[in-house]
Amino acid sequence: MTAPDPLRRRAPAGVPLADILPRVAEDVAPLAGQGEVATYIPALARAPADAFGLAVADLDGEVHTIGDADTPFSIQSVSKVFTLTLAMQRFEGDLWTRVGREPSGDPFNSLVQLEHEQGIPRNPFINSGAIVLADVLLDCLDDPLGEIVGLVSDLVGAPVVVDGEVALSEADTGYRNRSLANLMRGFGNLRHEPEDVLPIYFAQCALSMTARQLATALRFLANDGVDPRSGRQVLSTERARRVNALMLTCGTYDAAGEFAFRVGIPCKSGVGGGIVGVVPHHLSACTWAPALDVTGNSVMGRAALESLITHSGLSVF
Ligand code: DON
Repeated sequence: MTAPDPLRRRAPAGVPLADILPRVAEDVAPLAGQGEVATYIPALARAPADAFGLAVADLDGEVHTIGDADTPFSIQSVSKVFTLTLAMQRFEGDLWTRVGREPSGDPFNSLVQLEHEQGIPRNPFINSGAIVLADVLLDCLDDPLGEIVGLVSDLVGAPVVVDGEVALSEADTGYRNRSLANLMRGFGNLRHEPEDVLPIYFAQCALSMTARQLATALRFLANDGVDPRSGRQVLSTERARRVNALMLTCGTYDAAGEFAFRVGIPCKSGVGGGIVGVVPHHLSACTWAPALDVTGNSVMGRAALESLITHSGLSVF
């Protein structure tokens, strides 16, 4: 008896993943030209507005791709999944007294809510929440950035790098993030000085990765916390489930409700145009299309994930 060909792995709707990807590309093609590439971080403005890539990693070790899935891009806020993972692995204090677990309903860099809520960010996936996580990592690790890069490289199975030009560009223009950090320092929710915390945050956002690499790196979240490549338990099953829950409710900022309604799986977006998605026990995916809507989420990326879920019949609901 011959082993089943993983490329023919069938989703519940009965269509092999390899056949679904061209349909997704066809569905999103009419959206080309909609949205704007992020320019508030000047180095991001060089991203090609018409690029589109999709990578879908299954748990058998196959990664199915279409379009620009092997072009590196700035992962930006997608990095917040990795810093949360590292903090959940290594921080022994109570993370959840420092950062909340509720959707913000506000833009990812809003100051208003943070002032109202005494410097406790709503969740780890908005900018203030990720800055607190960088502070937490400084408490428990000697080299937080090195550990972030190490974790991600390990999950990908190859070295990943920080794009120095993007990190510098973000540091040069990061006035809102400095405001968030200073406000939290004033409220006592940052233990270190903003100038020590922010370089970690800026550098993690400037990680440069491809859609194929991000889909691969996120497989542990589809596999009860175990990286299927190495067999390593990256997070306990319970914690992996919690990261997925936070991605579903908070991963796409003030569009999280719309994403849950339309896409219906845990997702995390970044202003570099990447969005990762997880279907527990089935797959992890990453789309890259740099043109964003007003909430900072990729227009084609969201449509691609919606199309992938529709054609595959996979959903958490
Ligand atoms: O701090 C910033 O504004 C960016 N480095 C990250 C923002 C981001 O990706 C939010 N995403 N949708």
